[in-house]
Amino acid sequence: MAPTISLDSKRILITGGARGLGQNFAEAAIAAGAQIVIADILEDVGRKAAQEMGALFVGVDLAKPEAIENCVKKAVDKLGGLDGLVNCGAIATGIGGPSMMETDIEVWDKVMDVNVRGTWLMSKAAVPHLMANEASKIVNVASDTALWGAPKLISYVASKGAIISMTRSMSRELGPEGIAVNCIAPGLTLVEATEYVPEDRKNQYIEGRSIQREQMPEDVTGTVLFLLSDAADFLTGQCLPINGGFVMN
Ligand SMILES: NC(=O)c1ccc[n+]([C@@H]2O[C@H](COP(=O)([O-])OP(=O)(O)OC[C@H]3O[C@@H](n4cnc5c(N)ncnc54)[C@H](O)[C@@H]3O)[C@@H](O)[C@H]2O)c1
Repeated sequence: MAPTISLDSKRILITGGARGLGQNFAEAAIAAGAQIVIADILEDVGRKAAQEMGALFVGVDLAKPEAIENCVKKAVDKLGGLDGLVNCGAIATGIGGPSMMETDIEVWDKVMDVNVRGTWLMSKAAVPHLMANEASKIVNVASDTALWGAPKLISYVASKGAIISMTRSMSRELGPEGIAVNCIAPGLTLVEATEYVPEDRKNQYIEGRSIQREQMPEDVTGTVLFLLSDAADFLTGQCLPINGGFVMN
């Protein structure tokens, strides 16, 4: 059930919206009254998801700076402006397992290009449009793996730590422009991308939580809606861990 937060008349771009958490954020934001463009590298899946939920779709590869600029231009054209950006797109699957001693440099570089540089460049391209409105919002998606130091996930953990730091820095630079920047740090959430996570890691999460159960996408959407809403106008530079109390800020 979507929480009762109003995003009425908000125009929001959500990267990584083709599936998983991003898709859930887009559906919840639409239910809260927002107009949504989802942007993703998965063009067919993304187009279908967008059509089903009543969003618009733009293809983008977050590893490619030019593609990011084009994506924001197209999204702004479709929406007629921009009030919010959710940087959710990331390499979030298929990279766990190898230790820091075994991780390939190519994997590290790719994860940094998409997750970190992609988030920076997407925000950079969106800022001139977000500045045009009062109290615009950027919500970056980090991960609580960066807070507790999850092992055997070195490039991903490093990328999500960078997201937390970047959020703080961006908040100070963009506050004077009327843009609030926050990030969320979800715990292990059950989506297609986390199906491969070994049972012992899943159990470690459940047992370590204050609220001892599996985490579902609906557990995360309410906080994202809040951060995009007028209720969060004076909240910026913060990282909100959403993980049932597994790790606390
Ligand atoms: N599911 C979890 O347990 C969890 C926990 C903490 C944080 N997160 C974060 O939540 C976000 C969504 O993750 P998810 O679990 O739903 O996984 P996911 O793989 O389903 O979502 C990632 C999305 O980003 C897109 N993407 C990947 N590379 C891209 C690129 N180069 N250009 C454009 N789009 C690209 C994918 O196609 C996908 O739609 C990610 O930022 C992830 O790091 C997830």
